Amino acid sequence: MGWEGIAAFSGIREPLARVEEFLQESLVEDEGARELGRHLLLGKGKRVRPALVLLGATIRGELPEGAVPLAAAVEMIHLATLVHDDIIDRAPLRRGVATIHTRWSEHASVLMGDFLFAKAFSLLAATGSNRIVRSMAEVVYEMCSGEIEQNLSLHVPQDQTEERYLERIGKKTARFVAESLRVGGILAGASSAEEQALYDFGYQVGLGFQIVDDLLDVAGSQKLGKASGSDLRTGVITLPVIHALNASPEGGRLLELCEREHLEPGEVAEAGAILRHSSSLQYTQKLADRLMTQAQARLTALPEGLTRESLDALVKFLRHRRY
Ligand code: IPE
Ligand code: IPE
Ligand code: MG
Ligand code: MG
Repeated sequence: MGWEGIAAFSGIREPLARVEEFLQESLVEDEGARELGRHLLLGKGKRVRPALVLLGATIRGELPEGAVPLAAAVEMIHLATLVHDDIIDRAPLRRGVATIHTRWSEHASVLMGDFLFAKAFSLLAATGSNRIVRSMAEVVYEMCSGEIEQNLSLHVPQDQTEERYLERIGKKTARFVAESLRVGGILAGASSAEEQALYDFGYQVGLGFQIVDDLLDVAGSQKLGKASGSDLRTGVITLPVIHALNASPEGGRLLELCEREHLEPGEVAEAGAILRHSSSLQYTQKLADRLMTQAQARLTALPEGLTRESLDALVKFLRHRRY
């Protein structure tokens, strides 16, 4: 689904449309990158992170100058991470369209990802706010740290605990969601208490969001616009698996499959079936629900207005993503 259909974004439709235009213009301005830039924009992203920047920036009511380029920069960082992530995860599809490394080459993907990062940071620097640049630099740093950790633990389920998993997805995803909201707040001159409230809300929603995403991957959802079963296939150990290794009567077989470097499609399906027969999908969904409920309760720390209402509606929208 594209952002136009997300009711929670109805109050920021106009600036989001400007973010879209800004992305269109920025991604085609360089002749060499034009073809890849156009291709990337064919995929319909939810635009959650740029929307969060805009919502954070609306905390004082009026949208401050520079909010649109800042939101676009945040989406470019997201795009860059996806382009690189898809090489690592050997993903054929992203946002319903072929990935760059599938359609062109890994070389092209690496370069396009770097191009997007560089463009994004130049836009961040143009805000003149050192805190904004630093915040996003730390997001990327933590994300890389989380991904390196994940890469080291591929096919090693024994090392994984729920606690380590939550820490890892915090670095990979939640921090980015939280900082997207916070940089919007910084631009708008939010108080430090408001900045903290935006961050804490974003962090919990981000955790819940990644947990559901991981759940949909193992549960085999077709609705994502990306291939499912990717985590089982590539040995990424996520919460449903961590839980089932202990809780499922077929945990021994699941362990064997997770440790295997290469799985046949039938074996990926077998691992998926073990998870579906266990209580682990429900357990994982419940944890995500709990985090989302806690995040919603935190919204009272924000002033009443569009930001708070839209964030509440956004959680409701994200809660519809279930396995
Ligand atoms: C995908 O993010 C990567 C995760 C952190 C799960 P989104 O689900 O926000 O992807 P798009 O931007 O809508 O494509
Ligand atoms: C998303 O990670 C990319 C980053 C957060 C770096 P995943 O690999 O878990 O997400 P999808 O499923 O490809 O979107
Ligand atoms: Mg990945
Ligand atoms: Mg991936």
